[in-house]
Amino acid sequence: MEPGVSAAPSPDVTHPLQGARIILAVSGGIAAYKAADLTSKLVQSGAVVEVILTAGGQEFVRPLTFQALTKRAVHTDTFAPWTGTSFGHITLAREAELLIVAPASANTIAKLALGLADDLLGAVALSTEAPLLLAPAMEHGMYHHPATQEHLATLLQRGATVVGPESGRLASGYEGDGRLVPVETILGRARALLGRDGPLAGKHVVVTAGGTREPLDPVRFVGNRSSGTMGYALAQAAIDCGAEVTLITTTTLSPPVSAAIVAVETAEQMRAAVEQAITGADVLIMAAAVADFRPDQPQQRKIKKRPDQHVMDLRLTQNPDIVASIDRPGLLKVGFAAETDDLVANARGKLTAKGLAMIVANDVVDTIGSAESVATIILPDRPPDELPRMSKQRLAAEIVARLLPLLDPEDTNGA
Ligand SMILES: Cc1cc2nc3c(=O)[nH]c(=O)nc-3n(C[C@H](O)[C@H](O)[C@H](O)COP(=O)(O)O)c2cc1C
Repeated sequence: MEPGVSAAPSPDVTHPLQGARIILAVSGGIAAYKAADLTSKLVQSGAVVEVILTAGGQEFVRPLTFQALTKRAVHTDTFAPWTGTSFGHITLAREAELLIVAPASANTIAKLALGLADDLLGAVALSTEAPLLLAPAMEHGMYHHPATQEHLATLLQRGATVVGPESGRLASGYEGDGRLVPVETILGRARALLGRDGPLAGKHVVVTAGGTREPLDPVRFVGNRSSGTMGYALAQAAIDCGAEVTLITTTTLSPPVSAAIVAVETAEQMRAAVEQAITGADVLIMAAAVADFRPDQPQQRKIKKRPDQHVMDLRLTQNPDIVASIDRPGLLKVGFAAETDDLVANARGKLTAKGLAMIVANDVVDTIGSAESVATIILPDRPPDELPRMSKQRLAAEIVARLLPLLDPEDTNGA
């Protein structure tokens, strides 16, 4: 995974996995060993994980692995004695906020689609109101069999979320469809499902991230040190609150799993992508470091140096100011001001000039390309809100929290 972004949330950020009661059902496929990694990452993210091993699952992995990782008994048997206030599948089903089946075997998918309750997972799946997240893994032929496809379609139609499978090398050694998606993808989907009824549910947030690259010739560009970390963290923070997110990015960091990604390079491309994405959007967060200028005449061929050439003049032309140029009623615009001097005064000037609802000001030298940020959040007619140094993930959560009352002023007045 790329530096700066991780599906396992930063420990100082509150997120939907924290404290969530999750059932992880592991069925009988060769990818069952990957479920141990998933369990470990869910636990590290603060989730309370109850593991169910199907009969098939127990052929591949042993309960002790999951018991050690979760510090909880592993569930395998519908008919295990009920104790105290724990009523087997009924208690598991009632307490669950999310049911993940990973890997989901063809057999288990069929049973879930048919509503069979001849094992503990089947009984829990019928009893629970928790959303169902399936990560199928099997041989290419099993996956493409009409029976499996029909069962998956049935489950999707009932509201289940299905991630994968991916194409690639399968356990058999053949290439095909059927690989379990990466554990980070399952974690990201789980995070989005748990957050989906959050305060940004039904809202569309567009985020830009990374530094633009303005071409000089086919191999060189004028750019900046922006890593995109802040924009990616904002996209994740908005997803955590239930938003639909479009992330317009110049970087190749691993994006939040549920974001719609639009890849761009130049300021011009970013402007066009933003204009398209904001149709029907509620919020635009311009976290990208858009180059103020671009080479006036990018060359079609690689620029060659001559031995007697000691200097090269570079003529630049001004790029569009994306956030200032967008004026759509009902769209809440958030800007960033990376400054070296007179931080608050300069940022407040931009807030007014560009019609922003909020601006996040930070010292560019301290912040750009770094994992942390020292930021001041400025809203019209309010004193600046100076935040201490914190991770960009935490800052993203702070920014999103301050956006909520601006979106629904009546709902959250005084909150
Ligand atoms: C070595 C081996 C690997 C298997 N791998 C898979 C698999 O990746 N996916 C799958 O759907 N079934 C696989 N199967 C078949 C299942 O284990 C079998 O259908 C089992 O009944 C599934 O049980 P469960 O769904 O209750 O866990 C495999 C079987 C063997 C012997």
